[in-house]
Amino acid sequence: MKALTGGQSRVVTHPNNGITRSSREAKTEQNFRAAVAKVNEQMKRNRPAPMVTKASSRRFYSTRPHEGALKEIGGSPLALQWDSALFGLGLGIAGYTLYQLLQDSEDENVIHAADAPPKAELAQSTVVSGGQPAGGFAIITLSSKADLAKVAAACAKLPEIIKELTPDEKRPKDALLPVMAGVAFGTQVWEKLAKNKKAQVPENFGHFKERKGKHGKMPETGGDILIHVKCETQSLCWEVIKAFVDSLPAGSVAKIDDQYGFQFQEGRDLSGFLDGTENVADAIERRRAALLPTGGSYVIHQRWIHDLKGLHSKKVDEQEKIFGRSKPDSAEHDVKAMDKSSHVARMRDEKGQKIPIVRQSMPFGTLGGQHGLLFIAYSNSPAKFDKMLDRMVGKEGGSENDATMSFSTCVASNYYYVPSLKELQSLA
Ligand code: HEM
Repeated sequence: MKALTGGQSRVVTHPNNGITRSSREAKTEQNFRAAVAKVNEQMKRNRPAPMVTKASSRRFYSTRPHEGALKEIGGSPLALQWDSALFGLGLGIAGYTLYQLLQDSEDENVIHAADAPPKAELAQSTVVSGGQPAGGFAIITLSSKADLAKVAAACAKLPEIIKELTPDEKRPKDALLPVMAGVAFGTQVWEKLAKNKKAQVPENFGHFKERKGKHGKMPETGGDILIHVKCETQSLCWEVIKAFVDSLPAGSVAKIDDQYGFQFQEGRDLSGFLDGTENVADAIERRRAALLPTGGSYVIHQRWIHDLKGLHSKKVDEQEKIFGRSKPDSAEHDVKAMDKSSHVARMRDEKGQKIPIVRQSMPFGTLGGQHGLLFIAYSNSPAKFDKMLDRMVGKEGGSENDATMSFSTCVASNYYYVPSLKELQSLA
């Protein structure tokens, strides 16, 4: 077993609460601003600006309109005129303007261009944001009589519901902020909306297909609409889902299957293993992993029921083999020595590389009834989900089956399309 390496990048945090993410983001932002300030300072002093060629800051510059100017500052031909006081003054002013622009910009994406990930503002609020202590997950099945266009138009009003339930002078502010809620359509439903010219099928479209492995099935259980809510309290998650369901046209809902998730300990799955240590944490990388250029996304939602008695009757090192992680601190087992059926081994590609998706799962359930994991993850392509699920049931990457399925049973699965805010509005 390998000890944790890599310092901060392996810091264990709650999977979704954004602590690691925001500290990284802050660091990136800080490094970036420091680099820009340095460039500006150098420009003011009429010296070349080496920082712009650094790999760590290249991303921020590569295709921005300023790229040409910055490249030229670092080399010829403008560098030839370096000792020209007038030119230096001009550059100083340009640099200062750029610096101000960056200072003014809260979103680093404003200053990105082509190679930048889609802006978070294009997407619904659940997709790339961090986690909250409470979550609501409602799978809605529409009745056969439902008028899909009218249902879709009602779904488009979710942002208004969130606004309505967001604390203002009428509601106490302390416990309730922030509220994040997103509506997604079963991929079959979205396809129907597209056929009726109410929507467009985005790129990389695909449906969930049932899978069977040595430890059990991932059944195709359908689901027409998924509501995912994240906030401080379960009560507010419940309220958002209730308000949403009440807003749907009368008679359109056949079944509501709503579950409420909670943060367990410091971000552990009910098995006792930390969940989310290798989740995509960096804010920019989350957008890259989860968003289509439009701001749309795909989400997989599965409900897993754990047999905790069965799992916990095993010795800890046996449990650790199931996940490929140590139980106390999620230290990764050496990739080569890792059990091939361990969850982590099955979740990597053939080369052992990570497959980037944005996981936001939460434990749920009761002791007297069922309990386990409300698995939810966002991606810019369902092909990534397909690959991981196929690897779990030994359909891809060898015949090994994911050992987590030996103690947990999947009882619900579907893929949903999460329209961008613009696409959502166009359904109204
Ligand atoms: C019973 C259901 C599941 C449980 C209890 C579970 C739990 C865990 C745990 C404890 C880890 C290790 C810590 C971490 O890096 O997050 C992990 C990693 C991961 N899980 Fe799951 N998971 C489940 C299902 C799934 C499913 C269905 C998917 C994908 C569709 C998935 C994708 C991943 C990925 C991508 C990783 C990171 C692997 C890496 O290190 O690169 N998990 N999961």
